[in-house]
Amino acid sequence: MARISASVYSSHVPAIGVAIDQNKTDDPYYAPLFAGYEAGRKWAAANTPDVVILVFNDHGNAFGLDLIPTFALGMSASYEPADEGWGPRPVPTVQGHPALSAHLAQSVIQDNFDLTLVNDIPVDHGCTVPLSVMYDQPEEWPCKVIPLLVNVVQYPVPSGKRCLELGKAIRRAVDTFDEDLDVQIWGTGGMSHQLQGERAGLINQPWDNAFLDRIVTDPEGQAAVDHVEYVREAGSEGIELVMWLIARGAMSDLAGGEAPTEVHRHDHVPASNTAAGQLILEETV
Ligand code: DHB
Ligand code: FE
Repeated sequence: MARISASVYSSHVPAIGVAIDQNKTDDPYYAPLFAGYEAGRKWAAANTPDVVILVFNDHGNAFGLDLIPTFALGMSASYEPADEGWGPRPVPTVQGHPALSAHLAQSVIQDNFDLTLVNDIPVDHGCTVPLSVMYDQPEEWPCKVIPLLVNVVQYPVPSGKRCLELGKAIRRAVDTFDEDLDVQIWGTGGMSHQLQGERAGLINQPWDNAFLDRIVTDPEGQAAVDHVEYVREAGSEGIELVMWLIARGAMSDLAGGEAPTEVHRHDHVPASNTAAGQLILEETV
């Protein structure tokens, strides 16, 4: 059977992708940020899954104001990197896993989550930057990727509780897929940042660190935190952090299993005008 072995949490700041694409990771500005990613990259190389369910928000590239699904699951065999205004990033095409996508759709929709199913979508920095953070610049990504896109760009956004419960439903779905697959679930976005308006440039590291503690030890409590607190404390784009709860919900401790093992945690300020964080939780076996 398939099983979820780990969850990964990562910022997806576009400037991090640009630094990798333009070989600037050793520049004085970026060196401390990328030094912090070394441990995660070593872990990722030693723990390459068959499939990553990659939770992220589209930033107006696959969807626009004419159509914004709250939760959209990618069903395709492949997804091209989006052209976000400067041409597509020079990264591999993302290869999907249509059979697992179909099973996730069947199971999660029957489990009362009304997913939108999408086929022909480009994937933007929300998806490709976390892959680059972990796998650098390979010829091909080392695993299949199933995109799960969440609307956090146009209000109303889904609640933390809804995100955590979706993660639990995803775990139940993976557990019933009749193929021997190692699956990871990644939640991306954040950490605190505001890109617009009077508070542009806002970073709140104490709040981010409390969030990191709480998502590990008290995910149900964190899931009860209102969207207004994210925006007030972590900035208008800090609401992206609510997506991390989908990944956290898929860990087995929320279904009566052992608490996960924290493998790595890193947070760095700033990357561009954003607090960049990374957290890795393994299932305890
Ligand atoms: C920026 C964009 C993002 O989507 C994000 O999550 C963080 C930073 C940016 O444009 O700097
Ligand atoms: Fe973003």
